[in-house]
Amino acid sequence: MQRSTEAEEGNRVHWDELASAHESSYEYGRLLDGGHLIDEVQLREVGDVAGRSLLHLQCHIGTDTLSWARLGASVTGVDISPVSLEVAGRLAEKCGLKARFIRSSVYDLPGVLSDTFDIVYTSVGVLCWLSDLEAWASIARSFLKPGGTFYIMEGHPFLNVFDDESEGLRVKYDYFHRTDPVKWPGDCPDYAGDGYVVRSPSWEWQWTVSDVVNALLGAGLRIEFMHEHKYLPWKALPSMTECGYGRWRMPGELDLVPLMFSVRARAAGG
Ligand SMILES: C[S@@+](CC[C@H](N)C(=O)[O-])C[C@H]1O[C@@H](n2cnc3c(N)ncnc32)[C@H](O)[C@@H]1O
Repeated sequence: MQRSTEAEEGNRVHWDELASAHESSYEYGRLLDGGHLIDEVQLREVGDVAGRSLLHLQCHIGTDTLSWARLGASVTGVDISPVSLEVAGRLAEKCGLKARFIRSSVYDLPGVLSDTFDIVYTSVGVLCWLSDLEAWASIARSFLKPGGTFYIMEGHPFLNVFDDESEGLRVKYDYFHRTDPVKWPGDCPDYAGDGYVVRSPSWEWQWTVSDVVNALLGAGLRIEFMHEHKYLPWKALPSMTECGYGRWRMPGELDLVPLMFSVRARAAGG
């Protein structure tokens, strides 16, 4: 397996720092008020979760994990960042929702968890922290019951080619994967957009659409659909404008490129 302990540990520190900030900057009022935070596209694409077991990989502070619990799933959230999971535990208590949270790298999970699930779910801001996509897909597959569903919604890899400090769509970065991660220095604004500046550095990998699709196929999953979307849940580029609650897209004549993708795949059997 392609794995860098320096990058993984550095990213753990990065996410511990962000989790503390996100406890107050994430907008999860609807969850506290008895609702959930899953957007209508995911609701439709994942389908009914009531009474089903759901494993959420890279769950961060658990806002989506708890949303699926509110929708009736029996949930397990996994994340490498202990501070994220402390926040998730406090949120679960405030919401009166039952959830199990496990601290582990995705890559160590087979040694930590032996259950299998109806649904393995992961979303938004997850792939760039992964050093080995084939191992990730095969681990996700190993946690599915026969006939179980894998679902991912993620920022579109093509979005990552654009300069995030320029107006418009200016190509600046390589679309294709490289084995070595890019190290981003600290002192970057937090994507949650409340003015917080993240001090700790991070290490990221770029993965293409074909890397994702081939990893899932290579793990033996049958892809049911892949969709591309023209909105994002955060302002990734300066020209983006808000288009409804928590949604951002490119304006008018720049509304030309995919910003998110989703894939649903199924394990054999069942
Ligand atoms: C952008 S956040 C996910 C955000 C989530 N979709 C949300 O809206 O809250 C990425 C998460 O991946 C976690 N992570 C990074 N590398 C990981 C790994 N190797 N194993 C497990 N979790 C990891 C981080 O700790 C962080 O909580």
